[in-house]
Amino acid sequence: MNLEERRAMTASRKIDHLRICLEEKIERGRTGFEDIRLVHDALPECDLGFIDTATEFLGHSFRAPLFLAAMTGGHPDTKKVNVVLARAAEQAGLGMGVGSQRAALENPALADTFSVVRDEAPRAFLAANIGAVQLRDHGLEWAEKAVEMIDADALAVHLNFLQEAIQPEGDHDARGCLDALRELCEDFRLPVMVKETGSGISAATARLLWDAGVKAIDVSGWGGTNWAAIEGLRSGAPDSGKDSTRPPLSEVFEEWGIPTVVSLCEVAGTGGPVIATGGIRSGLDMAKAMVLGADLCGVALPFLAPAMKGEKELSTTISAFVRELRVAMFLSGAKNTAALKEKRPYITGVTRQMLGNNWRIQ
Ligand SMILES: Cc1cc2nc3c(=O)[nH]c(=O)nc-3n(C[C@H](O)[C@H](O)[C@H](O)COP(=O)(O)O)c2cc1C
Repeated sequence: MNLEERRAMTASRKIDHLRICLEEKIERGRTGFEDIRLVHDALPECDLGFIDTATEFLGHSFRAPLFLAAMTGGHPDTKKVNVVLARAAEQAGLGMGVGSQRAALENPALADTFSVVRDEAPRAFLAANIGAVQLRDHGLEWAEKAVEMIDADALAVHLNFLQEAIQPEGDHDARGCLDALRELCEDFRLPVMVKETGSGISAATARLLWDAGVKAIDVSGWGGTNWAAIEGLRSGAPDSGKDSTRPPLSEVFEEWGIPTVVSLCEVAGTGGPVIATGGIRSGLDMAKAMVLGADLCGVALPFLAPAMKGEKELSTTISAFVRELRVAMFLSGAKNTAALKEKRPYITGVTRQMLGNNWRIQ
């Protein structure tokens, strides 16, 4: 494939993903939040009207522990979506990640589909985004260009080897990514975060990442947006090889991944700060994630359709998440996020089985 063809493919993939996420059912599995109950405080001794949802993350203030997770940019049609997301993040005092900047690093004519977020969100915490394979192949140069492009506060390096394995044209060689991360963290002027994209991160991987110098981990676990499903729909279901009696690879691997709650507990047991992303679908899920050790909660898919409609729709959705979080905090007797993080969860079912007796895995 020549350079022009590669550029065109990277950009058109972005649009395919957005279209599929909007039109198809692409969530699979269970996050584990259904196995978590917070303890009801029948005498909360706080005022619902004065619940303080503010928090700090990597030295930045957030009005609520909510992060608009990486989704888009990289095709001319995605610019307006990033405008809406950025305005909402700025107005609500939240943070936001852009989607993979690979398309604009390959073709600088697309840079404005990303840089527009800083124009629209001059004060919000913004995370730049590149893939671990792009980091390995292009090193500090692309990392620096990505953060410069949006005047970022941090760089998120994404891990998406499930998606790559299923894409016929994907990067199937994952060697050298940890070394590339270690090298980046040694020199980089901004905090480096590592995020999965829907398959979760284990305690063992988290330890390698902290040792490499990573400053935050976003677990992006299984149970929400499912990239095996998306890739299956995008390519007309890539098959498992020549044997047409086998189901497509994408279908076999829809069940692959660490559920968000299990991943969150494993990673939070190794260090922090930690972002819980992957199937967070309400402010109640956010409250549960905070009790389990999250510092921020990331949400992608539920914000996509409202962001396509416009600012008002997205703000309404964000306000609903924050209102639900407040009510959960009130009913848990937590007047602020620090108090919420001290609360005790009930853990039941499969999640309890997967975590064993010690839910704060050391
Ligand atoms: C349309 C769409 C595009 C995405 N693109 C990226 C991306 O470019 N880079 C990245 O790190 N994550 C990307 N993600 C993954 C999200 O940041 C998040 O980790 C994942 O979707 C799980 O969250 P959710 O269940 O709330 O959607 C994308 C998600 C969606 C829905």
